[in-house]
Amino acid sequence: MPLVDIQNLTVSFPQHGGVVQAVRGITLQVAAGESVGIVGESGSGKSVTCMAILRLLRQPPARITADRLELDGIDMLRATRGQLAATRGRVASMVFQDPMTAFDPVFTIGHQIVETIKAHRDTTTAAAMAETVALLARVKIKAPEAIANSYPHQLSGGMLQRGMIAMALSCQPKILFADEPTTALDVTIQAQILELIKELQAELGMGLIMVTHDLGVVAETVDRVVVMYGGRVMEMGPVQDIFDAPQHPYTQALLSSIPGRMPGKRRLVEIPGASPNPANPPSGCPFHPRCTLADAKCGVEAPVFAPVGEGRAAACWRLQ
Ligand SMILES: Nc1ncnc2c1ncn2[C@@H]1O[C@H](COP(=O)(O)OP(=O)(O)OP(=O)(O)O)[C@@H](O)[C@H]1O
Ligand code: SF4
Ligand SMILES: [Mg+2]
Repeated sequence: MPLVDIQNLTVSFPQHGGVVQAVRGITLQVAAGESVGIVGESGSGKSVTCMAILRLLRQPPARITADRLELDGIDMLRATRGQLAATRGRVASMVFQDPMTAFDPVFTIGHQIVETIKAHRDTTTAAAMAETVALLARVKIKAPEAIANSYPHQLSGGMLQRGMIAMALSCQPKILFADEPTTALDVTIQAQILELIKELQAELGMGLIMVTHDLGVVAETVDRVVVMYGGRVMEMGPVQDIFDAPQHPYTQALLSSIPGRMPGKRRLVEIPGASPNPANPPSGCPFHPRCTLADAKCGVEAPVFAPVGEGRAAACWRLQ
């Protein structure tokens, strides 16, 4: 049974005079212990997908539908509030780009991690604090006792990100969702945090969903890549295959826009033309207005997401 099992997930946000269609029918399975990278231009629906899986989006305004939305066998669409809260800690946790959003400025780091542990497990404050200090040490924070007693504003961005990872790990999740966890950090700290996530993943046998703009991060941390565009998955496959032989025109454009590929310039470079407007998405294939290979059918009918080789799938008429 996959740990994450999503079929035909859609997320929309009704707005004055229209509907923002942020996610438009995503199907994705992630096995226990597997690491998957989600890449795509800004606004392609990466964060909304993760937040929808964890049911972290406020409803309303968000409208979520799916044929299946399961985390470790739990139906996240129909789960009660209590089940959702328990699942978020025990099965999956999320680390965000900005660690300040994860911590309340008026409580110490230690207090907040202790409260998270106590919310999920029947334990004493003293035991939870001992665990917190051990967790802070595990994410390689020096002087973990002192940091446990510090307030968020007293820590650097890198330290806070480590603190947030410690909090995310405090309930021993089976999978960690990391949404641009290093974008706000300088390059050296970025590398250290990525290394830490990789180490923890191997040590704990934990699954990972890594959302990033940075193809270098994907190459270094995940087994499989999901390429999103306009709220849809364009291509999915093992990381090496995607980098060596991208099949979808969008993936090809993304990779060819990186001079010398990696490790020099490795952030996604915008492809000529504009990303689709989710409030008024193009008909047919969402990439057709920018695709150099588009023909008449592409503008009318959306391509089916279909296998294109061993462990690979893509949504493009030219590949079917
Ligand atoms: N609460 C909301 N209300 C209305 N629209 C929203 C809301 N949250 C997200 N969206 C829209 O949904 C679309 C997908 O957003 P999402 O945050 O998932 O993009 P992303 O791929 O994570 O982009 P980025 O790389 O910039 O983080 C965007 O057009 C965004 O404006
Ligand atoms: S379906 Fe058509 S427009 Fe879309 S990526 Fe393939 S060739 Fe391009
Ligand atoms: Mg995002």
